[in-house]
Amino acid sequence: MMRAAFVKANKGDEYMKDFKQIVAESLSKSIKEIDQKEIEQMIEVPPNKDMGDYAFPCFKLAKVFRKAPNLIAEELSKEIDILPGISEVKNLGGYVNFFIDNSELSKGVIKKVLEEKDYYGRSEIGKGKRVLVEFSSPNIAKPFHIGHIRTTAIGNCLYKLYDSQGYDVVRINHLGDYGTQFGKLIVAFKLWGKKEEVEANPIPELLKLYVKFHDVAEDKPELEDQAREWFVKLENGDEEAVELWQWFRDESLKEFERVYDMLDIQFDSYAGESFYSDKMPAVVEELEKKDLLTESKGAMIVDLEKFNLPPALIVKTDGSTLYLTRDLAAAFYRKKTYDFYKSIYVVGAQQELHFQQLLKVIELMGYEWAKDMIHVQFGMVALEDGTLSTRRGRVVFLEDVLNKAVEKTKEIIEEKNPEAGDIDEIAKEVGIGAVVFQELSNSRMKDYTFSWEKTLSYEGETGPYVQYTHARTCAVLRKSDIEPTADINYELLQDESSIEVLNIIENFNKVILNAISKNESHHITRFLLDLSQAFNKFYHNNHIIGEDKELEKARIALVDCVRQTIKNGLALLGMKAPNRM
Ligand code: ARG
Repeated sequence: MMRAAFVKANKGDEYMKDFKQIVAESLSKSIKEIDQKEIEQMIEVPPNKDMGDYAFPCFKLAKVFRKAPNLIAEELSKEIDILPGISEVKNLGGYVNFFIDNSELSKGVIKKVLEEKDYYGRSEIGKGKRVLVEFSSPNIAKPFHIGHIRTTAIGNCLYKLYDSQGYDVVRINHLGDYGTQFGKLIVAFKLWGKKEEVEANPIPELLKLYVKFHDVAEDKPELEDQAREWFVKLENGDEEAVELWQWFRDESLKEFERVYDMLDIQFDSYAGESFYSDKMPAVVEELEKKDLLTESKGAMIVDLEKFNLPPALIVKTDGSTLYLTRDLAAAFYRKKTYDFYKSIYVVGAQQELHFQQLLKVIELMGYEWAKDMIHVQFGMVALEDGTLSTRRGRVVFLEDVLNKAVEKTKEIIEEKNPEAGDIDEIAKEVGIGAVVFQELSNSRMKDYTFSWEKTLSYEGETGPYVQYTHARTCAVLRKSDIEPTADINYELLQDESSIEVLNIIENFNKVILNAISKNESHHITRFLLDLSQAFNKFYHNNHIIGEDKELEKARIALVDCVRQTIKNGLALLGMKAPNRM
């Protein structure tokens, strides 16, 4: 684990400095033969704490100094001039080992957290850089099902992560509100649909029609032709087609927004696929001008064989455009409108090929910014009783899952802590948070199976466990009559469990930066679980409230730092931190 010291700047505000860097600086004064950057790279973390926090191996120096490594290490450890932040230097075999000054560490961390409060963990490194995060993007007239939780939760978390570092983030919902499936739906609705039924229960009714279309079309392939014709009509602005489409869209959006409200997720733009329908001809024209289009069986394609990719289908035989064409138009529109530094697409791994084609075509058109488009992909969610499929109509609605999580959580709270207060509100924050946390704690590419028991448990590596730890810190703070302050005796926080807690907290910003660099939320969930576990150990090892007021004051400061850091961390995941549960 990396650690940092806090060095006072002139104005009395503090800035962080790596302990590792301080070690390198100290070494550099004695070793003139190697530059400081290289020294820093050579520094290791010893396998256990008794050996110190950092170690410098002298094996490579043997050649330079023509001496045995352990002799060099011995001499170095004697002559080295240690800088503030390091408390001790020891020689162990061919290594020089460094111990960092824990009271410096505690002081730095606690001052910073108590001063920065909700800002702790944040920075401005992304200032002036615009990042687009496209996520969720469900399909109109189709269920918003449990499978969508991944893109929705991961996308929202990425938005929060980038935002926390000062990036200018735009959240885009690329609604699937266009395409041949609308032809199918129009055909099905005209054949079997009833307006009242759809109005009463939009998505389930539309889904029924969609499923019926596929069942019937298996024996009556002419239905597929009719569907294609209706989509072409829609693209050409046919009044009846547009009216039906608009109605499907409005009804569906209402339902999606209910779910976004539950999750407390907002978007800056709902420009979906249909938004690009009038922006496609220009793309097709440019492709033509750049000599990239070829004809293949009546369709227009971009040949990508050279790149080991299937041809990119741009215009179909019947003249209608495709998903990929709309994505091309969207990419150009976004570059022009937002001039992005990065454009992120949070979309399942099944669409990997699609995004490879998209990026390749833009690159072939001569735009170097194709490299700034990133497909942040993820594996599948399965349910304990089988996988998901829209076609067969065997789907689990996300809204139902969230409601069930809230209900089940309510039962748990009523049993565990009936005096908690506004139980409905708490159950909402914990139940929905549990589903979100479960989702974000998996590494993206891993397929996983959704389990109620694992998700909602107060124990184990779950959202409720972290939220419970936060509520515990609040309970301690309520009980004590000491106000948290950084004006404490830091020598009182030198026990192992306090130091462990402070070490973790100190690392928060680095963990966020690491999560951003990989677009992986599980670094944050891991951090919160580690912090919760370390705090619970501290809580069991120590009496926080007691006779010794100096000690209580010191420990209260630490507890408040834990509370604040967990709260900030949960916020990055899109989760609430209830004070009681
Ligand atoms: N609506 C699509 C689906 O549900 C996801 C859209 C992904 N984004 C994109 N720009 N292609 O599969």
